[in-house]
Amino acid sequence: MKLVDQAGALAAMRHAQCRVVTVAIDQMTFHEPIRVGDLVTLNASLTYVGRTSMEVRVEVIAEDPIIGTKTHTNTAYLVYVALDEEGHPKPVPRLVAETELEQRRMEEGKRRQKYRMEQRHKERQGVEK
Ligand SMILES: CC(C)(COP(=O)(O)OP(=O)(O)OC[C@H]1O[C@@H](n2cnc3c(N)ncnc32)[C@H](O)[C@@H]1OP(=O)(O)O)[C@@H](O)C(=O)NCCC(=O)NCCS
Repeated sequence: MKLVDQAGALAAMRHAQCRVVTVAIDQMTFHEPIRVGDLVTLNASLTYVGRTSMEVRVEVIAEDPIIGTKTHTNTAYLVYVALDEEGHPKPVPRLVAETELEQRRMEEGKRRQKYRMEQRHKERQGVEK
């Protein structure tokens, strides 16, 4: 989980070209185990960008280096916020979706982000009661 967050943060930092903070991690379900001795590969890519926030998709692949089998263990979605020198949210460059897949992922990311913000709103209302 730490590796997932680190890979996601690096992808977000490359895009924003500044430091970032993790603001949300969606549920993480492992479909397959990662065994001791497995080589773990993480592919992180931006799926959706708001004004200061970035959603990153991190795909985890475990490889048994002896047998050579590669298993997709899970895919996680995380949200990072770009920060300025004072630690305030900072606008990030827009994301260009070139392929059909990127466009689809961007639409899905936009929907997920809308849902997260609705949840945040509900949580805040609950705290205020
Ligand atoms: C991230 C942080 C600076 C944002 O501050 P804030 O007062 O919520 O600022 P805003 O309301 O302007 O939100 C900033 C962006 O974060 C997004 N955001 C805020 N809460 C979110 C959540 N729960 N899920 C997804 N996105 C969220 C907002 O949509 C906004 O994105 P946008 O500019 O693209 O529209 C602040 O929440 C924070 O410092 N959180 C702690 C983060 C941290 O310590 N992480 C490490 C944990 S180990």
